[in-house]
Amino acid sequence: MKITYLGHATLSIETRDKTLLVDPFITGNELASKINVNKLQADYILITHAHQDHILDVELIAKNTGAKIISNYEIVTYFADKGIEGHPMNHGGKWNFDFGTVHYTNAIHSSSFPDGSYGGQPGGFVIETAHHRIYIAGDTALTYDMKLIPTTIGELDLAVLPVGDNFTMGVKEAVKASMFLNCHKVLGYHFDTFGYIKINHKEAIQQFSKAKKELYLLPIGGNIKL
Ligand code: NI
Ligand code: MN
Repeated sequence: MKITYLGHATLSIETRDKTLLVDPFITGNELASKINVNKLQADYILITHAHQDHILDVELIAKNTGAKIISNYEIVTYFADKGIEGHPMNHGGKWNFDFGTVHYTNAIHSSSFPDGSYGGQPGGFVIETAHHRIYIAGDTALTYDMKLIPTTIGELDLAVLPVGDNFTMGVKEAVKASMFLNCHKVLGYHFDTFGYIKINHKEAIQQFSKAKKELYLLPIGGNIKL
């Protein structure tokens, strides 16, 4: 599995033979100007919640690639009205796709569309393939529910956690989250894009290493291979 950071909360995940894109927000992110949105591949687009900074490029990429959406019922319905196919889920549920199993997990946040319409409840995902299991938290506060993930779903190889604070948990809470998740490898996301979420990278990495955890803050376009 290869996970490429495309800025903000956008990830490209390559499994053995499929590409999953998570929360595409490229054209609105000045920091990601070197990423060509029209060149992105996707078989599926996973959407954690309906906020602009998570859905901005969904329609463009879905139309370019024919990718199918995986999200909550309300978000899937919203894009179905635009002619885009999707698979609706809700919290606590899982589904076996052709690349692996997806679980839709709890998040503490909000989820309205940019026009104010209801975007369902926000979530996160656990993605399981034959060899790997990763958790993508979405925009969320630290939540005690995270403790359930390793015990009910299984041991994680990687947790992708927001670290930017203000709109989500910050570094200190993300360290605690990695403990709740019993996961030693963390990819930080949802930081630096706007003034409210700028972080000190060195301090963030130190806080994780003090807790004997490893935090990756990748440059945009950088990747981790599992
Ligand atoms: Ni949000
Ligand atoms: Mn966000």
